[in-house]
Formats: sequence, C-alpha cells, structure tokens
Amino acid sequence: MPVRKTLSHEEYVTFQKFLEDACGIVLGVGKEYLVSSRLSGLMRESGIANVGDLLTQLRTDRTSKLKTAIIDAMTTNETFWFRDMAHFRMLTEKAFPEILGRQSGRPLRIWSAACSSGQEPYNLSMIAHDYQMRNPGRVSNVEIVATDISTTILQDAKKGIYCGIAASRGLTQDQRSRYFLAKGDCLEVRPEVKRRVTFRELNLTKGYELLGKFDVVFCRNVLIYFSSEQKQDILRRIARSLNPGGYLFMGSTESLSAHSDQYEMVSALGGIAYRLK
Ligand SMILES: C[S@@+](CC[C@H](N)C(=O)[O-])C[C@H]1O[C@@H](n2cnc3c(N)ncnc32)[C@H](O)[C@@H]1O
Repeated sequence: MPVRKTLSHEEYVTFQKFLEDACGIVLGVGKEYLVSSRLSGLMRESGIANVGDLLTQLRTDRTSKLKTAIIDAMTTNETFWFRDMAHFRMLTEKAFPEILGRQSGRPLRIWSAACSSGQEPYNLSMIAHDYQMRNPGRVSNVEIVATDISTTILQDAKKGIYCGIAASRGLTQDQRSRYFLAKGDCLEVRPEVKRRVTFRELNLTKGYELLGKFDVVFCRNVLIYFSSEQKQDILRRIARSLNPGGYLFMGSTESLSAHSDQYEMVSALGGIAYRLK
C-alpha cells in the first residue's frame, strides 16, 4: 500500500502532543519531514496509509504495541564506545575515590539512564572492572542498572553482540581483545563484563523510585530532546535517586545550569560533572 508522506497541520500537532506525552520528546515547528521519514517504514509494514490513520489506530491500541513501535522509530539511539572519554577518566580518578573515601570497601551502584544499545553501561562495567583490579578491596561490588524506553534497543543491548561499525567505533585493538570475545565477524562482550549490568525498560518521564539509590548516574544525550519543564522535573527526580555527594554525568553538549540548583558543577581531568549538594 502506498504511504502518504505529507502531514496536515492538525495531524502534526496531534502527533507532537502524543510523542511528548508518551516519552517527553518535544518536536519543534517544521519537523513534519522528520516524522514522515521516521514513520514511513513502520506504516508500510503495518499497512497504514498515512499519519492520520496511524493516530486513529493509536486510540484503540490496547496492547501498546503500536505506541512502542512509534517511540522506537522516533527516538535517536546513536551511541558509541567510550563516548566522552573524559567522563570515564573523571569517574575513576575523581568520583570513585571521593565516594569510597567516605566509606572504603562498600558496594557502588551506577545508573545508565538512557543506555541505548548498551555501550555506555558495558563501558562503565569495564571501567569498574579495571578500577577493582587496580584497587583490590576498595569496592566490594559494582552494580550497574541500565535503562531505556525502547524495548527493541534493550533486546540488542542485553545480547551484548556488536557487528560492523558498532564493533569498532570508539574501541582500540587492546580494548577489543580485553573486553570482548570474537563471535564470527562480530564481537561479544565478555561474561565478566556483562555480569555487573542489569537492563530494564524505563521511561524517564515516569517514576523511578523503585530503582533505589545510586552513587553515580549517567544521563547523557537524552535530555536535549525534552522541554525545559521535563528536564527540570527529571533532574529533580535524579537528585532524589542519588546518594549524598553522588555524581551526575550529562552529555558534553548538555548543560544543567538553567534547570537545577541542587547540584554543583565539578570540572576535572578535561570533563564536567555535577555533584549533588
Ligand atoms: C542518543 S541515545 C544516548 C545513548 C547514551 N546515553 C550515549 O550517550 O551514548 C538516547 C537514548 O535515549 C532513549 N530515550 C529517549 N526518550 C527516553 C525516555 N523518555 N526515557 C528513557 N529513555 C529515553 C532512546 O531510546 C535512546 O536510546
């Protein structure tokens, strides 16, 4: 069935509201082309002729399957290994020693709050592994909770198998052989790296008190898509999820200053992070 690629103004406004309510993502004016190009594959596969019909079907989508597929199609999952390396340096050379300085030998809990296909939480596990090797007895256990709204991307993340560009972007040869096993033409994250990471579906615009408290939160390259009010709300709730003196890392192009006064900016080793006051 041919898919109509143009959207009426009314369809666009209804879709904008649906997306913001569903996952916090704010589409500005003039993004009709982005909507139709991201949704065209899904509409073709589902036999839906246009965005108007898609919105009509959403109203009777009792299983939320269509809603999930739309969120999957509209979210940007781009990520790569050791993205913003300065953050990982800050973590081991500043945040870990500071947090463990208050109580050596205790467990650490880290949250990767928009983990995409898993590179970020697995990197945290690799970094934690190296830290534990270099500092025996300093940390009893490191638990990494990795969450994302996209169930499709979480399925890939759990497998921990990376092929093509995903198996090379950001990785050195040494890191490939230390942290991965060869699997055909692809790489699989070693079991000892996977072991620390638990994946869960979670929408950042909904409640997350059940995840418990964390020492470190990585919430990188996701808040850029949200409205200022949503950002403030999420940052307030992340503050409640952090232990006193806990650290929040955001994307290198994201800033917290206008959105929260609950954190103080810490700048070290070429990176910037935010410590709970
Ligand atoms: C660009 S990726 C960032 C991945 C990783 N944090 C990084 O910096 O490389 C953004 C991720 O945010 C997720 N996302 C978008 N909206 C979300 C929401 N409301 N709650 C949780 N995750 C969301 C997307 O599914 C996507 O995987």
